[in-house]
Amino acid sequence: MKTIHIGILGLGVVGTGVADLLTRKSRLLASRTGAHLNLKTIADLDIDTDRGIDLSTPALVTDAMAVLTDPDIDVVVELIGGHTPARQFIMTALENGKHVVTANKALLAACGGELVETARKNRVDLMFEASCGGCMPIIKTLRESLVANDINSMSAILNGTCNYILSRISKDGSTFEEALKTAQELGFAEAEPSLDIDGHDTAHKLAILNALAHGMEINLSDIHVEGIRDITPMDIEFAKSFGYTIKLLAIGKRHKDHVEARVHPTMIDNTNPLSHVDHSMNAIAIDADATGKTMLYGHGAGMMPTASAVLSDIADIARNIIAGSTGRVPILGYPQENIRHIPILSMN
Ligand code: HSE
Repeated sequence: MKTIHIGILGLGVVGTGVADLLTRKSRLLASRTGAHLNLKTIADLDIDTDRGIDLSTPALVTDAMAVLTDPDIDVVVELIGGHTPARQFIMTALENGKHVVTANKALLAACGGELVETARKNRVDLMFEASCGGCMPIIKTLRESLVANDINSMSAILNGTCNYILSRISKDGSTFEEALKTAQELGFAEAEPSLDIDGHDTAHKLAILNALAHGMEINLSDIHVEGIRDITPMDIEFAKSFGYTIKLLAIGKRHKDHVEARVHPTMIDNTNPLSHVDHSMNAIAIDADATGKTMLYGHGAGMMPTASAVLSDIADIARNIIAGSTGRVPILGYPQENIRHIPILSMN
């Protein structure tokens, strides 16, 4: 059986989950991919803190270059997040002929086109299922299952932290601050939680999904973004009394010659399934021309759900390596001929 060597950059919440799954599920993963997935090296600035999992097999290093320049390593899993140094690490990995798996939505939303182009030039895979919607297979759904569809619209709850905060305020009268603190303790929130509560994390994810759905260039500055910072318990109660639930929604609608993209708190009628998506769960309703409506629902944040999505990408790459079919880079940032690649805000 072929051995595929994996290096992880970043041993935070998700990195620890990925290391744990690769170690504990080694036999299951081998039976489902036909390859032995060997976690060879983990790089993190802190390799001393006990993560509560078995880390006796991989080498633990503080220098990412030990992963990026190791000729044995086939797949680099970037779980550092943010722009610097993650961008440079991914570029180096791709240029060194390594396949890359990342959950880094902020980076993809900022320079996904450049990363895709670099992967394409180097004929390696660049996969990012964990960047949007946690364990919901939304990237694979848009790339694969709905490949023959025009996507008319997407309405989604894509931020576990915001959904958790809004749900807690609504269901048990928690304050905003209490709910945010718990979301941080549970590992949902970003290191910089304003990315969550001001809607930017949701906008990053919507930008990626719009790029996949419509083949358009990512242009974050054209997405209207409002977060949940100003939503009060009274707003939530008023909405409830009229039969609505307030959620932070990402909305992407295709019009004749443009795509409308917006993120803002929305009153959702309680007959709409999205209104019942609570706690850190995420959901997306996709309206496509051949399928009609499709919905996905799942844990949008947290260690194991996100790690599971990362593993789905590692497994895909392993199968590609075995089949000699790597380099299946997604279309991201290549405008289709029939659509202007500028998302225009329109509130109609
Ligand atoms: N902070 C993000 C969230 C993590 O709360 O959804 C998952 O992308």
